[in-house]
Amino acid sequence: MTNQPRAARHVPVLAREVLQWMALAPGMAVLDGTVGAGGHSRLMWEAIQPEGRLLGIDRDTMMLQFARQQLPDERVVLCQGSYADMEELRSRCNFPQPDRILLDLGLSSDQLADKERGFGFDAGGPLDLRFDTSQGIPASEFLQTASENDLTAMLQDLADEPRAASIAREVVLTRQTNPLRTAGDLAQLCERVLGARGTGPKDRHPATRTFQALRITVNRELEHVSRGLAAARTTLVPGGLIGVITFHSLEDRLVKAEFRDESYWKVVTPKPIAASPAEQRFNPRSRSAKLRVAQRLPGNSAG
Ligand SMILES: C[S@@+](CC[C@H](N)C(=O)[O-])C[C@H]1O[C@@H](n2cnc3c(N)ncnc32)[C@H](O)[C@@H]1O
Repeated sequence: MTNQPRAARHVPVLAREVLQWMALAPGMAVLDGTVGAGGHSRLMWEAIQPEGRLLGIDRDTMMLQFARQQLPDERVVLCQGSYADMEELRSRCNFPQPDRILLDLGLSSDQLADKERGFGFDAGGPLDLRFDTSQGIPASEFLQTASENDLTAMLQDLADEPRAASIAREVVLTRQTNPLRTAGDLAQLCERVLGARGTGPKDRHPATRTFQALRITVNRELEHVSRGLAAARTTLVPGGLIGVITFHSLEDRLVKAEFRDESYWKVVTPKPIAASPAEQRFNPRSRSAKLRVAQRLPGNSAG
């Protein structure tokens, strides 16, 4: 377990839209597969009282501690694991088939602020980037062992990094004498290759794309999204709703493709819901957020 959390700083994105499109009602059972700091969960919890039930899942034990601060009611069940395993987690906790599932993908601002795992560029601690440090390998180990071709492909495929090959080359050259151990080591390498302005928007650090690609890789995030969506087909109550908020085009593509499968889903939001201009000004994280909602076909019992 990492450091003891203080007050959560994460601001839930599209909160009003989630409440509106998820059509919550008293007495419902809600599964929040990415409970994070509990921002969305707290709002949903209020909307399903009295008699509502909520199961919050997160891979990161630090985030579950934040969530418990937001959701002190002991009827709220919090559980460490991946939403990809939602059916097993739900039955282990004796939680009913949910009427609503929410997945708010990606990273929390509280993880970005955690100096222990290197999510932020200025973190002096080890470059780990895992949500669950008991699984897989830390990002520093991946950078030390991956081939130059694999590093290039990762940066191209997961981050559209135009200078992918140059960064991969520099990683391979640097690691021979100086393994990249901290977030600062990698951030400096990206600055060296890309210059202070980088290849992204002006207000982004040049290492933003590289960190994103690495985080998605070490956490196998796209694989979990695919497995989670497949699990939702049968975990959700027939007629129930699932809402997914994505921040990355590859994630959104997976969600869109899944919801197009008419043997399981009826699309509720034909176009993804984006944050209002006011929210985008107030919370820059929301700029790339897309919410899609689908209904499990009422008569569907396939699985
Ligand atoms: C954007 S944050 C969620 C914020 C939350 N909705 C709130 O309002 O506070 C994403 C969270 O998902 C968690 N996460 C990422 N992948 C996961 C997975 N496969 N299963 C469960 N949790 C995951 C992260 O640890 C992080 O806490």
